[in-house]
Amino acid sequence: MECKYFGECGSCRLYDLSYDEETKLKKERIKELFSGYDIGNFEFFSSRDEYYRNRAEFRVWHERDRIYYGMHKLVGKGILKIESCPKVDENIYAIMPKLKEYIEANSELRNRLYSIEFLSSREALLLTLIYHRPIRNEWVNEARKLEEKFGIFVIGRSKKIKEVVSQDFVIDALHVEGMEYRYKILEGSFSQPNTVVNEKMLSWVCSHIQNPKDLLELYCGHGNFTMPLSRKFRKVLATEISKSSIKSANYNCEINGVKNIEFLRMSVEELTSAMKKEREFNRLKEIDLDSFDFSHVLTDPPRAGIDAKSLEFIMQFENIIYISCNPETLKRDLDILSREFKIVDFALFDQFVHTNHIESGIILRKI
Ligand SMILES: C[S@@+](CC[C@H](N)C(=O)[O-])C[C@H]1O[C@@H](n2cnc3c(N)ncnc32)[C@H](O)[C@@H]1O
Repeated sequence: MECKYFGECGSCRLYDLSYDEETKLKKERIKELFSGYDIGNFEFFSSRDEYYRNRAEFRVWHERDRIYYGMHKLVGKGILKIESCPKVDENIYAIMPKLKEYIEANSELRNRLYSIEFLSSREALLLTLIYHRPIRNEWVNEARKLEEKFGIFVIGRSKKIKEVVSQDFVIDALHVEGMEYRYKILEGSFSQPNTVVNEKMLSWVCSHIQNPKDLLELYCGHGNFTMPLSRKFRKVLATEISKSSIKSANYNCEINGVKNIEFLRMSVEELTSAMKKEREFNRLKEIDLDSFDFSHVLTDPPRAGIDAKSLEFIMQFENIIYISCNPETLKRDLDILSREFKIVDFALFDQFVHTNHIESGIILRKI
């Protein structure tokens, strides 16, 4: 990728290497970090090195009646004015200059606009405009015209207010093992930032399921893994702490005609307590936990990794699939898991090109 802001813009920290050199560096880092283990079959799933991000957030820099997109500087404090960003996907890339021009010429949309967020899918684009002032009816009228002009969806946010002009989500279509899965992706909820690499990740997981019975999924979000994996298992129990993600997950079951998943709005820590019969929860009244026969657990925790008690709990099952966005906490948890499990497969998914972030997946089988 060529970018005239390399070395100045804080968004890309790996900018002076070719993509081949960058992938080599990431593989070496992981192999060194996990050198104490037999890491089984190792695979690397590459990304496009430009136009790969389906979400992006820019600060808005004002100079009299003019506005500019801004990013944090790589070194020191302050905002760097930018015109474009070649790592955002084609939808976002194409609209950025036209949108800036439109907002600049419209004082209702421009006035005290603090930042702009984009959420793009293969079918739609959602824009969130964040203000340092209240949102008035005039704003809604102008935002509606903006929606019509560009064929997009617009949300306005200001302190504690979320003004949804038409809708606050996009629908995306992902392709996994020859099937298409449709997803509702809600503004403000977690979603994978690199669509093509996400598809590779889903396909990799699906292709490594052996001897399936039931699946226990922890940190399921809106059902990113759950939809394609549901085809492999008899029944799935999936849990997630975010209410809005669970709502999307249930919606995603409907639009994909999936009927064998029970989604729970519950923290992993709570579910562990419930399954260990330490606590009872009203939310579990309709679900017979004893009816599941889990052969596999999939866990995809946030950067902090999985809590110690839940980690110990899942070690009773035969197969664990651990997806991680933080190699350090993955290593910490693997130090415990490896007492009873061996790594069968290890993969890197290059979701975050030009940054030091690494997404990994490991398939573990009971020794
Ligand atoms: C890395 S994301 C993965 C989401 C999903 N697997 C996906 O691929 O889109 C982690 C998810 O865990 C959820 N989460 C964070 N802490 C949690 C907890 N203690 N219990 C359950 N879910 C949690 C977050 O809301 C987020 O959706």
